Amino acid sequence: MSARKIFVTTALPYANGKFHIGHIMEYIQADTWVRAQRMQGSQVNFVGADDAHGAPIMIAAEKAGKTPQQFVADIAAGRKQYLDGFHIAFDNWHSTDAPENHALAQQIYLDLKAAGLIETRTIEQFFDPEKAMFLPDRFIKGECPRCHAKDQYGDNCEVCGAVYAPTELINPYSALSGAKPELKTSEHFFFKLSDERCVAFLKEWTQNGVHVQPEVAAKVREWFGTRTNPDGSTSTGLDDWDISRDAPYFGIEIPDAPGKYFYVWLDAPIGYLASLKNLLDKRGESYEAYMADPQLEQVHFIGKDIITFHTLFWPATLKFSGRKTPDKICVHGFLTVNNGEKMSKSRGTGLDPLKYLQLGMNPEWLRYYLGAKLNGRNEDIDFNPEDFMARVNADLIGKYVNIASRAAGFIAKRFGGQLGSVSSDGQALLTELRAQQGDIVAAYEARDTARAARDIMLLCDRVNAYVDTNKPWELARQEGQDARLHDVCTTCIEAFRLLTIYLKPMLPHVAQQVEGFLQVAPLAFADAATLLGAHHAIGPYQHLMQRVAVEQLDALFALPEPEKVTPGGEEIAPGITIDDFAKVDLRIAKIVECKAVEGSAKLLQLTLDAGEGRLRNVFSGISSMYRPEQLQGKLTVLVANLAPRKMKFGVSEGMVLAASHADEKAHPGLYVLEPYPGAEPGMRIR
Ligand code: MSP
Ligand code: ZN
Repeated sequence: MSARKIFVTTALPYANGKFHIGHIMEYIQADTWVRAQRMQGSQVNFVGADDAHGAPIMIAAEKAGKTPQQFVADIAAGRKQYLDGFHIAFDNWHSTDAPENHALAQQIYLDLKAAGLIETRTIEQFFDPEKAMFLPDRFIKGECPRCHAKDQYGDNCEVCGAVYAPTELINPYSALSGAKPELKTSEHFFFKLSDERCVAFLKEWTQNGVHVQPEVAAKVREWFGTRTNPDGSTSTGLDDWDISRDAPYFGIEIPDAPGKYFYVWLDAPIGYLASLKNLLDKRGESYEAYMADPQLEQVHFIGKDIITFHTLFWPATLKFSGRKTPDKICVHGFLTVNNGEKMSKSRGTGLDPLKYLQLGMNPEWLRYYLGAKLNGRNEDIDFNPEDFMARVNADLIGKYVNIASRAAGFIAKRFGGQLGSVSSDGQALLTELRAQQGDIVAAYEARDTARAARDIMLLCDRVNAYVDTNKPWELARQEGQDARLHDVCTTCIEAFRLLTIYLKPMLPHVAQQVEGFLQVAPLAFADAATLLGAHHAIGPYQHLMQRVAVEQLDALFALPEPEKVTPGGEEIAPGITIDDFAKVDLRIAKIVECKAVEGSAKLLQLTLDAGEGRLRNVFSGISSMYRPEQLQGKLTVLVANLAPRKMKFGVSEGMVLAASHADEKAHPGLYVLEPYPGAEPGMRIR
């Protein structure tokens, strides 16, 4: 059988935000599958791209004060660190705004038009008169027609869950400008999915058991049936698909239709082809020839939220523009963190992939953990920190890495780093390991990495049991057991090599380290049939993987340190007791007289009446803020039991209270305290 030729993609992330852990999960799943394919000799082109177009991105760019092109370029610049960080080996990363995509989308549209599947219709839509643009449903808000909750989106109510058309909102307003939207007509372009050719093709394509998982086929079947529309009416079969948007729009212009653009979901999947074409062009290969090969398989990895686009619109777009249709749509569920809610598509939640990397956490822990949870169906999975730590430490460190560390030292110290031969019980163990290869490879093919991980860990258990039975550490202490020790340790290393082959799609970097340690060329599945053999020299063993530490998980999920606030520019002073406070005798005092101090730019001289039957003289550094006549006659607060202080201008018998910032230069200002009306001189403040 000749090698399979496969073109693989992941969904193209919207270019209005950083990757979140849900994206990384999808890429890890696809990357693992691709690596397993390559280890069987398949020729794979694995591509991704940013999904650049659409109203939300245009609006976000405007808010950021950038052109949409600059905005998406800035997002694209941040992608590499995540992909490299998690060992996700795309062959190319492109953009749906690239020239290849403009050209392909326009040609595909013209081909659909020639097939008689494009129609124009006049529709009524909300228009923002201030922004002079038609509003997408998400940008219209108003009162829910059912439960009357305020500020609900134009397509559904987040309070009662009602689904409706934006025109049903009570008191609608534009979320962009706040203006009252007007209903305006516009000509839109439709892809006639209701055409019987499309319906017949899609029924067959989705239900023939070849292209999608059974649970996905069942979901799609519902869409061919009878549905209730937002307005309460019912419809049967497929609706035509509105594929145009009016200017201003960040997208691809529709040929011969000035001011009309393709709706982002028309050109987004075409971006798969554009990225592939860009890759092949760079390599000097022919895109047309590549796509024309009947052996070529086209495989898309996506999440369950975008099934409609990939099982109806996309295959129909390709089919009726005379192109190759996808071979497989691989749908995964959603990742939650700490059993949290489904992550917001734009914000993600809980687990920041970049923080994970910055904390020095091993990316292959996450690859293994997610791999051990994903089973090829579109079920949701949860990232749980305790579970993560237990799983990684028990499986990867306790079972797998342990095998090498138990045997490698003896090979190095006692046998000059050379392997010996494997006797019959060792051969039997290796045969057992090889017998599982078919099932493990099939599990990878089916994206049932949970089963692959389970199979492999059972094999690790078998090898560890062999070590426990043969006790190399005891053999090493016994006379005349050298040959047996060599045999047992060689068996361990040979077994470890097989296990590494099996784990390699999930743990590519660890496998690479092992290849260095074993001094072998990159391992493929076929290598499992062979042995390293007697006299093969291995390198010094270096520890392959650390354990997950609880401190790392604590740091990963720690809330960001709240920014330190220092009130008034300084920390609150150390605590005191009420008795401490009582030592300070604060009294209301009347400023009977106030005058400037000759020879001082800072001081004012106050004559105070604190109800004592005598007046006090107090100097205060407040002349930058107050003119004497502003203070004369006012009440203020006096520290009455402060020791008198002799100053250049006379004795100061106390101090008046004033407020200021610690950093007087940056925050100038000094404010004398004044009591509420009613206070009288001599009253104590407590
Ligand atoms: N731009 C579209 C896809 C266009 S494909 C031609 C889009 N982008 S997205 O950024 O919102 O999502 C990209 C992928 O990430 C989708 O497959 C989506 O299902 C997946 N995920 C988003 N959140 C996810 C989780 N919480 N868990 C797993 N995958 C998730 O949709
Ligand atoms: Zn409601």
